[in-house]
Amino acid sequence: MKELEVKLNTNSYKIIIEDGLLDHLSFYIKEVYKNKKIFIITDDNVKKLYLEKVMNSLKNDFELDYVVVPHGEESKSLKIYAEVCEALIDKGVKRNNLLIALGGGVIGDLCGFVAATLYRGLPYVGIPTSLLSQMDSSIGGKTGIDFYNKKNILGAFKQPKMVLIDPLTLNTLDKKEFNNGMGELIKHGAIGNINLLNMLKSKPRIDENIIAESLKVKRKVVEADEFDLGDRMKLNFGHTFGHAIELKYHYKHGEAVAIGMLMAIRLGIRLGVTDEECLSVIEDILKLYELPCDYYDYKDYLDDILYDKKNIAGVINFIFLTHLGECIIYKIDENKIKELV
Ligand SMILES: NC(=O)c1ccc[n+]([C@@H]2O[C@H](COP(=O)([O-])OP(=O)(O)OC[C@H]3O[C@@H](n4cnc5c(N)ncnc54)[C@H](O)[C@@H]3O)[C@@H](O)[C@H]2O)c1
Ligand SMILES: [Zn+2]
Repeated sequence: MKELEVKLNTNSYKIIIEDGLLDHLSFYIKEVYKNKKIFIITDDNVKKLYLEKVMNSLKNDFELDYVVVPHGEESKSLKIYAEVCEALIDKGVKRNNLLIALGGGVIGDLCGFVAATLYRGLPYVGIPTSLLSQMDSSIGGKTGIDFYNKKNILGAFKQPKMVLIDPLTLNTLDKKEFNNGMGELIKHGAIGNINLLNMLKSKPRIDENIIAESLKVKRKVVEADEFDLGDRMKLNFGHTFGHAIELKYHYKHGEAVAIGMLMAIRLGIRLGVTDEECLSVIEDILKLYELPCDYYDYKDYLDDILYDKKNIAGVINFIFLTHLGECIIYKIDENKIKELV
């Protein structure tokens, strides 16, 4: 069992990571919730796999009800948000009831946003089940939905009361979703945790130790920058080119980040900011996990990144690795980038 604490100005909470945790959830939830009624929000895929297990492990101590939404990014919409709120109100939800987000990042973001807004805020606990949500999105308090064709544009900061992670749920995740999380997990190693990179070299099972090491990187930036005003930008390593590649080639986000990281490393080496060994080490780890490492020409993506939201007055905030496990926010003039590529 691994236990981490996220310490914030607004509140602090525990993350528990343990194989088989879904079988004894009550023990932990009783620590943070003293009332009876719990509403579980999940998607149809996760419902089939884990809802019964979760309800069995809670039913002796709590009164349970649930709301199921379709799986996929489309559920992060105003329509589904409204449907979830309506269902909860119809079921008699009160502002002191607990919500549980049982699922991947979509459910975490959606349920968190409901928890932030319904009755101006209800408590919620995260039970992330996808790799991406376990190693990243379940902590940090960013919640929200997509709107007007823009991702995450309606949202709120809302921290969970607790996050409960059972790595055994990863056994049912398909390869594509697993890779999606792996891209971001390797990114966490690259920007902030050389131990994690070293652990990954032997391709271990993604267990509580690996997830904990990944979350430590996220926790560090979240604690330093609760409301995303500076340091959290480091999590965007690999995302500047990654986003452009993702849109053009329909890679999963984490796969595009893999390619974006290699592009950022090569650019950093050209600039003299990034240590040369970063390229071979990160590329080898990406290949080990069968993430794409294709080479794309920077010139084809310059227009996309120069008009990216991070480009303020011709200056781009770029995240470069300095060494393995360390990165910096580097302001670079757009003309300088044009010269380099
Ligand atoms: N809040 C944040 O800080 C943050 C950070 C990164 C990403 N995100 C958001 O997270 C979302 C992506 O998260 P995701 O990749 O988890 O997507 P997701 O929630 O859509 O889950 C991916 C798929 O896996 C299925 N699934 C989940 N757990 C499973 C399991 N154990 N076994 C089998 N199938 C399972 C889901 O039903 C879904 O079909 C995006 O909307 C993104 O914007 C949020
Ligand atoms: Zn990302």
